[in-house]
This record gives sequence, C-alpha cells and structure tokens, in this order.
Amino acid sequence: MSAETRVALVTGSSSGIGAAIALRLGAEGIRVVVNSARSVEAGEKVAAALPDAVYIRADVSVPVQARELVEASVAHFGRLDLLVNNAGVTRVIPHADLAAVTPEVWREILGLNVLGTWQTTVAAVPHLIASGDGAVINISSVAGRRAVGSSIPYAVSKAAIEHMTVLLAGAVGPHVRVNAVAPGLIATPWTRDSDFFAPIAEKVRQSTPLGRVGLPEDVAEAVIGLANAAYTTGHVLSVDGGAHLI
Ligand SMILES: NC(=O)c1ccc[n+]([C@@H]2O[C@H](COP(=O)([O-])OP(=O)(O)OC[C@H]3O[C@@H](n4cnc5c(N)ncnc54)[C@H](OP(=O)(O)O)[C@@H]3O)[C@@H](O)[C@H]2O)c1
Repeated sequence: MSAETRVALVTGSSSGIGAAIALRLGAEGIRVVVNSARSVEAGEKVAAALPDAVYIRADVSVPVQARELVEASVAHFGRLDLLVNNAGVTRVIPHADLAAVTPEVWREILGLNVLGTWQTTVAAVPHLIASGDGAVINISSVAGRRAVGSSIPYAVSKAAIEHMTVLLAGAVGPHVRVNAVAPGLIATPWTRDSDFFAPIAEKVRQSTPLGRVGLPEDVAEAVIGLANAAYTTGHVLSVDGGAHLI
C-alpha cells in the first residue's frame, strides 16, 4: 500500500501534540482526520493546512460519539489505517490532597483517557484489520510509569492506557499493531499556560539527560517511527528526554 492511500484519525488534534501529529502525518502524504470536542475553528484550521484532511467534531469521552467519529472518518475517506488516541484531559491536584479527588474527577479523567481510548479503538479495529497494515498508537505520559503527574487520577489513567496497549497488542495481532508513546513535559497550550510549567520545566532542564523541555514535534516524530515499525507491537516508547531515568 502506498503512503498516499493511507488514512489516519488523530483524536484531539486541534491543538498541541495532536495538531503536530496531524501535520507530520500530512507531510508524509497520509490523509488525516482532525478531531476535537469543542475547538471547531482551530480544528478546521489544522485540517486546512494539510494537503488532504477533514475536520470532524466529536467528544470521544461519549461512547456513541467515539463510534460515530470512526464511522464518519471511514465514510469520508473509504478506509482507516492508523488511529492515534491522543485526546486527553487532566485536573491539576497535588497528590497529597486526597479529598480534592472526587468521584466526578475520576469519572471525567478515566471517561476520556481510558474509556474514550477503548471505545475509539474498538470501533476502529474492524477497519484497521481491513486495511491490512492497521495500527493504533496511544498517547500515554511519563506519569503513567513514575510517581509524577498533574494528579493521581491522570497518572492512573495513563498507566491504564499503557497496560491496555500491551493487552490489545496481544488481542488484535497479527492484523493490527498497538503501541504507545509516553511523553515527558511537552510545551503545549495545556502545559505552557499553567502555573506548574515554569518550575517543572526548570527541573527538566537541570536534571534530565537531554536537558530541555519537549516539543509537540518530538512526539510526532516518535508516532511516525512507530507507525512505520512493522515488526513492533505492544511497545511503549518514552519521548521524555530521559525523564524516566531519573
Ligand atoms: N503536554 C504535555 O506535557 C503532555 C505530556 C504527556 C502526555 N501528554 C498527553 O498528550 C495528549 C495531548 O495533550 P496536549 O498537551 O497536546 O493538550 P492540548 O494542547 O490541550 O490538546 C488537547 C486536544 O484534545 C482535544 N480534546 C479534549 N477533550 C476532548 C474530547 N473529549 N474529545 C475529543 N477531543 C478532545 C482538545 O480540543 P477541545 O478541548 O477543543 O475538544 C485538543 O485538541 C494528552 O493525552 C495528554 O495527556 C501531554
């Protein structure tokens, strides 16, 4: 299958890491479905910047919308070869503030990060099998494997995504590969504008082997690598400048 015919769906791609992934896939000649739940104008702008892309609005934390997003993507392009589960949500809650982690916080974070990833993947798998070269790439976080992160529910949701990646890789092979990328601190609208960014960025610069904060393009590059890694499945690739080592 030539690169020109491939189709990728990137959830949460109106901004930050998802937008960088969409733009990078487009540069590879891959047709792209850009998605977000709220930021329609920004999503349409990302799609318009690509040679062959469409923007589809859907809230992937709502199971029916996750399914409809996949079906609308296939209806538009006639196939689906790559699903990137990037849409995610967090709440900034100090880990010691247990009382602040209400059931609603758990439901919101797990509802998008875990259930949304699951629902979109389940809807996509038949189409990825039909592709003959199907792949899923989940966006995790360094918080999924170390005692860090914006909140405990967020870190737990990312640990769940990583184990889901491993389990699904076993379940949907040999037709579909399932891998994940675990970014460290990446400068995006999500992090850049928050109070915690400056102190953590300084710590990253001083204590991690590569000595800098990541860019959305660093994550996009790793996604391209995994998308092309035909003999790799069930792998979680750290893209964190070595933060997982400290
Ligand atoms: N930035 C970091 O340092 C970092 C580090 C590790 C992992 N990550 C992960 O990387 C992913 C992207 O983060 P980011 O920093 O690029 O965030 P971002 O700039 O805030 O982008 C998040 C994207 O997801 C969309 N989105 C949010 N809720 C959605 C929903 N329910 N359905 C569909 N789309 C939705 C947003 O659009 P709307 O809000 O308009 O819907 C936006 O397009 C997340 O999974 C995050 O956990 C980020």
